[in-house]
Amino acid sequence: MPKIAYLNSKYIRFNSAKVHIEDRGLQFSDSVYEVVSFYNKKLIDFDFHTKRLKYSLKELKINFLFKRHNLKNIFHKLVNLNNIKNGIIYLQITRGVQPRDHVYLDNLKPNVIIYARNKKFHYPKNNFKGETAITYADLRWKRRDIKTVSLLPNILAKKEAAKKNAYEAILVDNNKITEATCSNVWIVKNNKLITHPSNSDILKGITRETLKKIINKNQLILKEISFTKKELYNADEVFITSASSFVTPIIKIDSKPINKGKIGNISLQLATLYSRLFLDE
Ligand code: PDD
Repeated sequence: MPKIAYLNSKYIRFNSAKVHIEDRGLQFSDSVYEVVSFYNKKLIDFDFHTKRLKYSLKELKINFLFKRHNLKNIFHKLVNLNNIKNGIIYLQITRGVQPRDHVYLDNLKPNVIIYARNKKFHYPKNNFKGETAITYADLRWKRRDIKTVSLLPNILAKKEAAKKNAYEAILVDNNKITEATCSNVWIVKNNKLITHPSNSDILKGITRETLKKIINKNQLILKEISFTKKELYNADEVFITSASSFVTPIIKIDSKPINKGKIGNISLQLATLYSRLFLDE
């Protein structure tokens, strides 16, 4: 368990960190969040996460201004106070507290919650293995580009995956694959990479954006187009990306093995290249 959390400008004991029962994040999921990984105490893609955080706040008109370097200092301080080498930082900003009303007041003081947790990452050379996934209906709202804590459809889908001993649930909307409950989904077909375009149907993953740069640099072909459940099943390779899963190969979906149940070459190559960004070599 973490020792120290950050709550509204204070570093306090994790167990004493509490918010008001009329916090809008609790009552309406009126709240945004980010998950940032760190490895050897080094934050991964911090600037891109803060950029997306600003976008989410702006889209929901939550009045919270912050300086990137101040936030970075808080993150580093939490990592050090809790003495964690590898893990994730969870940050949540709620609109604030008011007597329960669907109409939010304009000048609420947001609640800022930040804490760090230890995490063992999987990447080539460190417990790297293929994972399994299920497919599940995408029941979410139409603004999936905003990173809000409205995650009910995601947690229901992920629980179904867990019940079937699967790592992820890949979401299907109108026979199209959007993304997964907490990661973006990619397929490889005939040496070409395919992933859903970054519009309001998916979250524009930071790991996805970083991997896009790696793909370009290595002259691989990427198509950002939607694909069907059949194309997913018939893919040569499938993998997912996120801040906490990095690049994770998927080797079975529902009852269908992918690449004969083995990690594919392109998935391995991209996972290796991605891990080089933060591994000290
Ligand atoms: N999830 N899509 C969804 C729905 C997500 O929740 C996430 C991240 C991603 C990948 O985004 P990124 O590469 O920026 O992590 C895609 C985080 C890790 C979570 O909820 O724990």
